[in-house]
Amino acid sequence: MNDKRSLNNNGAARSTRYTISDLASWKRSGQKWAMLTAYDSMMASVFDEAGIPVLLVGDSAGDNFLGEINTIPVTVDELIPLTRAVVKGSSQAMVIADLPFGSYEKSADQALDTAIRFMKESGAHAVKLEGGARVIEQVKKLVTSGIPVMGHLGLTPQSVHALGGFKVQGRGTSASAIIEDAQALVAAGVFAIVLELIPGELARQISATVEVPVIGIGAGPDCDGQVLVWSDLLGLTIKPPRFSRRYLDLRGEIVSALQQWQGDIATGTFPGEVETFH
Ligand code: KIV
Repeated sequence: MNDKRSLNNNGAARSTRYTISDLASWKRSGQKWAMLTAYDSMMASVFDEAGIPVLLVGDSAGDNFLGEINTIPVTVDELIPLTRAVVKGSSQAMVIADLPFGSYEKSADQALDTAIRFMKESGAHAVKLEGGARVIEQVKKLVTSGIPVMGHLGLTPQSVHALGGFKVQGRGTSASAIIEDAQALVAAGVFAIVLELIPGELARQISATVEVPVIGIGAGPDCDGQVLVWSDLLGLTIKPPRFSRRYLDLRGEIVSALQQWQGDIATGTFPGEVETFH
């Protein structure tokens, strides 16, 4: 990745963020990249330090951090403060706000009102919404209003009940509908598309044919980028989905640290001399 640090007019160090132009150039050069979910400023600063170029404030905040059963109950008023925190906690990442269920489906005007709230109140640099042909007017309205839009096809969790559960999409004859939706989104002006839980071969075909970056989650290795929910990747989630990979046992590490601390309290070894004021 490029180092985004540069000097401002006073010669002081300044950070500039990754933009949709960086993503487009990585598509042209074949450089693969990572997008990670983020929901708070502390973790956003860690992810930024690790060089993750794109942070998604997903409505997956609902089932991962707000105690919801799925993403459907998540509201705009819940996601805006989370997005603002992620923007504040990062300095190099591009931050994308997920438009939650019910905040854009009614009309292009509703989508624009919601996206404007995210851009103004949270400082997000782009928005993401789910769906293909059914949200084309919304995408066009946002794009022509100067708001970068990321599409999301395949398993779209906001439609989980209509899809009959969290299952692989685009097998057999339904593959062509996803291809057509991807082409329609690109024609409407999206800067990138997330493909969730579709066969790897279908994702490969779409990534190879559309001109915008394709980011996979449960969509095999042949996408331009990959996205995961951070708590799955770092081992906080109890039952992560099959398509994610655990790079850390954060839950185990936290439990063991907290047990150790409680033990130290019980035996009187915390606080010790260095943690005590005189
Ligand atoms: O909400 C989310 O985290 C997402 C990603 C899984 C793509 O939409």
